[in-house]
Amino acid sequence: MAEDFLPIRGYDHIEFYVGNAKQAAHFYDKTFGFNPKAKAGLETGLRDRASYVMEQGNIRFVFTSAYAPDHEIARHCALHGDGVKAIGLTVADVPKALEATKQRGATILQPATTARDEHGELTVGAIKYAGDTIFRFVDRENYRGSFPGFRPINAHGGKPVGLAAIDHVVTNVYLGEMNYWANWFERVMGFTNLLSFTDKDISTEYSALMSKVMENGGGKCKFPINEPAEGKKKSQIDEYLEYYQGPGVQHIAMNTANIYDTVTELRRRDIDFLRVPDTYYDYMRERVGNVGEDWDKLRDLGILIDKDDDGYLLQIFTQPVQDRPTLFFEVIERHGSRGFGIGNFKALFISIEREQALRGNL
Ligand code: FE2
Repeated sequence: MAEDFLPIRGYDHIEFYVGNAKQAAHFYDKTFGFNPKAKAGLETGLRDRASYVMEQGNIRFVFTSAYAPDHEIARHCALHGDGVKAIGLTVADVPKALEATKQRGATILQPATTARDEHGELTVGAIKYAGDTIFRFVDRENYRGSFPGFRPINAHGGKPVGLAAIDHVVTNVYLGEMNYWANWFERVMGFTNLLSFTDKDISTEYSALMSKVMENGGGKCKFPINEPAEGKKKSQIDEYLEYYQGPGVQHIAMNTANIYDTVTELRRRDIDFLRVPDTYYDYMRERVGNVGEDWDKLRDLGILIDKDDDGYLLQIFTQPVQDRPTLFFEVIERHGSRGFGIGNFKALFISIEREQALRGNL
């Protein structure tokens, strides 16, 4: 086995460009249970933007807004709406990660930049990914805070809901681009193709999608890439691409050790989830068999289940978290399975299409 030229330790953070970072931070605090950790903005001498760092378990989200209209962040929001700008990956050596990926064809957007404050030093650098999305390499080995220049927030955040880590991050791309990006992950990032789904696996009468799951050498990071497939009507991927005005992050899946508790609490806090038809549970009970889960509880909470040779998984998908039908979240509890709920895709598709029809986009 060749040496991994890009050893990734895990997801460092996800940065969202949003229209109003203060309100986004409040939403993710009070609903999803992310605690405010640090802030940068006018009061810390940052003149062009406000940025909030929110954490839960090992997940770090950053919400950033511009102060002026003619700013890259404001333009990003005008074009895409609120969405994911940067996927931060923790590496041991940022210059090396940039050099290795550049040699293999990456476009460098930010050279290695080290910032220092009383918490130590942190180095970042960035390369281009699909659309306006970027990968940011982060070395925080010698840093104890959130980010240099940020001031800790001592606010009392909402109670966490048990979200522990990022499981995978899914990107939607245009028809014909999935293979390009799968190859890009292989060539530039040294990832391998873990799974592939064709439109035969994931289709309904109306629409279909194709997907390839790319995984890094250590298995720490998984990036499924979706593209729309031909169908009778507009697929959910097409709808995303139309409203996001191009490729971008479709959903972020987050692990929990107790999906019943997490989803019960999220529902109590008014998070809306996709609903599958009740018949789904009769069908899945037959398909999955007895795995020791409470079928009534699964149905009551709308949690989906899927099984493969390695084990099973429980998962649920939120509705989009902004007005545009673009970014949403997945909550997942794994029991051995390394899959992505392929057996649920069809049931889900039907459910997503129902929502799409309600939006007049099907
Ligand atoms: Fe997913």
